[in-house]
Amino acid sequence: MNQRISDAAIAAAPAYVRHNRLKQWVAEIATLTQPERVVWCDGSDEEYDRLCAEMVASGTMKKLNPAKRPNSYLACSDPSDVARVEDRTFICSPHKDDAGPTNNWEEPAKMRATLRELFTGCMRGRTLYVVPFSMGPIGSPIAHIGVELSDSPYVAVNMKIMTRMGRKVLEQLGESGDFVPCVHSVGKPLAAGEKDVPWPCNATKYICHFPETREIWSFGSGYGGNALLGKKCFALRIASNMGREQGWLAEHMLILGVESPKGEKRYVAAAFPSACGKTNFAMLIPPKGFEGWKVTTIGDDIAWIKPGKDGQLYAINPEAGYFGVAPGTSEKTNFNAMATLKENIIFTNVALTEDGDVWWEGMTKESPARLTDWTGQEWTPGCGRKAAHPNARFTAPASQCPSIDPAWEDPAGVPISAFIFGGRRSTTVPLVTEARDWVEGVYMAATMGSETTAAAAGQQGVVRRDPFAMLPFCGYNMADYFDHWLKLGEKLGASGARLPKIFCVNWFRTDENGNFIWPGFGDNMRVLRWMLERIDGKQGGVEHVFGVTPAYEDLAWDGVDFSKAAFDKITSIDRESWLKEFELHAELFDNLKGRLPEALAHKRHALKARLAG
Ligand code: GTP
Ligand code: SPV
Ligand code: MN
Repeated sequence: MNQRISDAAIAAAPAYVRHNRLKQWVAEIATLTQPERVVWCDGSDEEYDRLCAEMVASGTMKKLNPAKRPNSYLACSDPSDVARVEDRTFICSPHKDDAGPTNNWEEPAKMRATLRELFTGCMRGRTLYVVPFSMGPIGSPIAHIGVELSDSPYVAVNMKIMTRMGRKVLEQLGESGDFVPCVHSVGKPLAAGEKDVPWPCNATKYICHFPETREIWSFGSGYGGNALLGKKCFALRIASNMGREQGWLAEHMLILGVESPKGEKRYVAAAFPSACGKTNFAMLIPPKGFEGWKVTTIGDDIAWIKPGKDGQLYAINPEAGYFGVAPGTSEKTNFNAMATLKENIIFTNVALTEDGDVWWEGMTKESPARLTDWTGQEWTPGCGRKAAHPNARFTAPASQCPSIDPAWEDPAGVPISAFIFGGRRSTTVPLVTEARDWVEGVYMAATMGSETTAAAAGQQGVVRRDPFAMLPFCGYNMADYFDHWLKLGEKLGASGARLPKIFCVNWFRTDENGNFIWPGFGDNMRVLRWMLERIDGKQGGVEHVFGVTPAYEDLAWDGVDFSKAAFDKITSIDRESWLKEFELHAELFDNLKGRLPEALAHKRHALKARLAG
């Protein structure tokens, strides 16, 4: 091992770093990975500008036209590195059963040996960036700290936007604070004099989590959730383990505030699978006919939710930015997102316009006549290729969002009145259903299905079970996760607190021609309003086999022409389809058998009997 680098790494720590265990760990990783140099990120604007300038010089990023998109950049990845790699994601708990049948598992010692080999010398010729970050407002009792060691400057600058990053975090950490260690390498060491490529990565990829020691190791990818380890790896996979031990929830949920014309305000949290509309819903603008209603944004992807002393659940957004899906985002579908994207943005895998701005499918009705596509090729409207990759993303500071909620950085979090679960289903699942009680709600969320999207590598558009939109993100056995939700409900219920209501939604039913029937986007406000009325005790609706769905008359239709016939199409319950659906639930439960909570198996029988009866 190269002792010299280890000493240099220790010496390189700035004077404000007082945490010896952290310094020691950085030195150990530097010794293992053998980078050219170690840089401790302070999170300053100067550092951000310098790293971006270096990446422009090296060809990783292009600076966009400052007159069009001030202080913004475009990075285009290697075509093989464009999404999360679920089949290369591992939960290395001591026992296979603790990871459960829905996760890839490897024995910790075996995985450590594999990683040790892969990481040995893997940062040669590169810089190791020490990136300290806080998930949640610094000092919030709901927040937690991580430190990512990465050889990717792209990761360092994205982490500045997505988290609270830099010196202030190390000051909070002090001499002995707790942090989750995260090691990341693109896995492409450089030989002496070797010229780098614009987007280094490795065909071999490992995204590994060690729940027992709360460590993350990621190798081979520089993209999104594979590389920005605060997000899915920490805030969901590791945090779900912490939450289970400590009695709280780490969820793949947006959080929004909604205020009625009377000034009554409530917060709801909603779980939809990747690329199924969380960012859109979180930034919803109420449609015509909803004057005086206001929707505000706390978060668009992840919620950390802890019970307060009053027995209510309080949520924070652990992130500080949005890593949002670009394609389909327009002034019409998400005006607030477009306004957020005006400046200070990193775009990844979108197309470049001739005047140095960005474009993606769905941004404008007419596409520009000529573009450079995300792979660097000339693009014209008829060329038969997509200009932006379907999982192209923007990294944007949350503070720039016009609909940001005044309480979004409140360290105490906001009280949650309802949980909403939704998948992408072209058939079967109605527009909205209210669960009659907590167990029924947990059942609905647990058995949720969704068509897969471009956010993960692999086939798109196949229906798979995606319990709680957490299938790729639950860091332990999914059956135990259901149990955790059931127990939390029991505990809160027993304390006399009013439990959040649970709803299940589906914006995606299609007609014979494959077109969406429901207008969606701003019009989802109509469904949200009904939910608020139900929370406030509104009666009525249509009770059916597995919950309560509004009748046509129960929704407010001001400002839109949506017929009862169309409404019936998206709320109808087809008996045959539901019989099949219950069989798919049985498949999921069978897969989880052994640890599946009995309450859920019972619920399935009761609902099926109801359908038959
Ligand atoms: P991740 O960031 O991947 O976790 O996903 P997300 O849930 O935040 O995804 P996002 O909000 O960016 O959703 C992107 C896709 O959902 C785009 O294709 C949108 O057009 C589509 N979408 C969002 N809301 C609606 C809606 O109400 N109706 C329909 N039909 N599509 C929608
Ligand atoms: C998702 O895939 O759900 C995302 C994007 O939010 S990523 O950070 O790449 O996981
Ligand atoms: Mn997500």
